[in-house]
Amino acid sequence: MSGTRPVLLLFGAAGQVGWELRRTLSPLGRVETAGQGRVQHPVDLADPAGLEALVKQVRPSLMVNAAAYTAVDRAESEPEPARRVNAEAVGLMGRLGAELGCPVLHYSTDYVFSGAGNRPWREEDPAEPLSVYGRTKLEGERLLAASGVDHLVLRLAWVYGVRGRNFLRTMQRLMAEREEVGVVADQVGAPTWARQIAEATAQVLAQCRTAEGGFRFGGRGGIHHLTAAGEASWYEFACAIRDGLGLACEVRPIATIDYPAPAARPAWSVLDNGRLWREFGVALPHWREGLALCLEELREAS
Ligand SMILES: NC(=O)c1ccc[n+]([C@@H]2O[C@H](COP(=O)([O-])OP(=O)(O)OC[C@H]3O[C@@H](n4cnc5c(N)ncnc54)[C@H](OP(=O)(O)O)[C@@H]3O)[C@@H](O)[C@H]2O)c1
Repeated sequence: MSGTRPVLLLFGAAGQVGWELRRTLSPLGRVETAGQGRVQHPVDLADPAGLEALVKQVRPSLMVNAAAYTAVDRAESEPEPARRVNAEAVGLMGRLGAELGCPVLHYSTDYVFSGAGNRPWREEDPAEPLSVYGRTKLEGERLLAASGVDHLVLRLAWVYGVRGRNFLRTMQRLMAEREEVGVVADQVGAPTWARQIAEATAQVLAQCRTAEGGFRFGGRGGIHHLTAAGEASWYEFACAIRDGLGLACEVRPIATIDYPAPAARPAWSVLDNGRLWREFGVALPHWREGLALCLEELREAS
């Protein structure tokens, strides 16, 4: 390794995953935070000139993109802003990375799949998104690949944590206020703690360092799935949250059709994580284990 520490430019550093990445990436280099919220480099990813100026100013060794337009329902009525952030900005990161010799690690989603399945989705399975959000995220994956940059895409699903907007925090609030909550029981996925995503990302990146002090994905680049092991419906996840928090609220299973939302969600969202295990020896524990650890932290903090 050379004497200088690599610089990692982290987009979306104030988001659920980004906030955890600030901590887990710091042993790998100097993390410069970018995006909206409390960050060192405020940047609107919908503004290509601002993004380009920032990347050229920082000249990072690696870009890590945890920023996204994640308002899945709002995206149905705001497709253009979603497209600019989830697709065009990602393509631009790729082109800038190719020009500057800077690899890109990017996050995508299970929502690229239709949900019409019954075995865990593999990376090469056909993507047929049901929503604007899913379509824009898929376009982002494709623009990144087309840019020719050395890149790695981690597709996540059902992310929760102690911060930000997520299902765990919504349930915690509703279950404290109400005697009963209705939760969708016919969508199945793998609830995944943002902390463990950030830790796994750091484990992967630690294996991609070069002798010159940079990063290279090479033949291990491309798309990889990264979720907790096991599967659950939102209803089962809600019951586990209720039990873990020791609350008495009744959880009632409902059907997706009874909970209409602007964006359609995949019914079957379980991802096959085998490629990440085979190529990097990295795999997350069962979602119940992740949830138990996260709830422990939630209790300690309150
Ligand atoms: N959450 C999930 O369940 C889930 C599931 C599958 C995949 N993913 C993917 O995982 C990644 C991380 O998701 P997350 O849950 O951590 O998301 P998040 O908590 O919503 O954070 C996203 C971050 O991106 C920032 N951002 C949004 N628009 C921006 C813009 N125009 N310019 C600059 N920054 C902008 C947000 O800032 P503001 O908060 O200020 O808007 C926020 O800090 C994303 O790629 C997402 O698509 C998430």
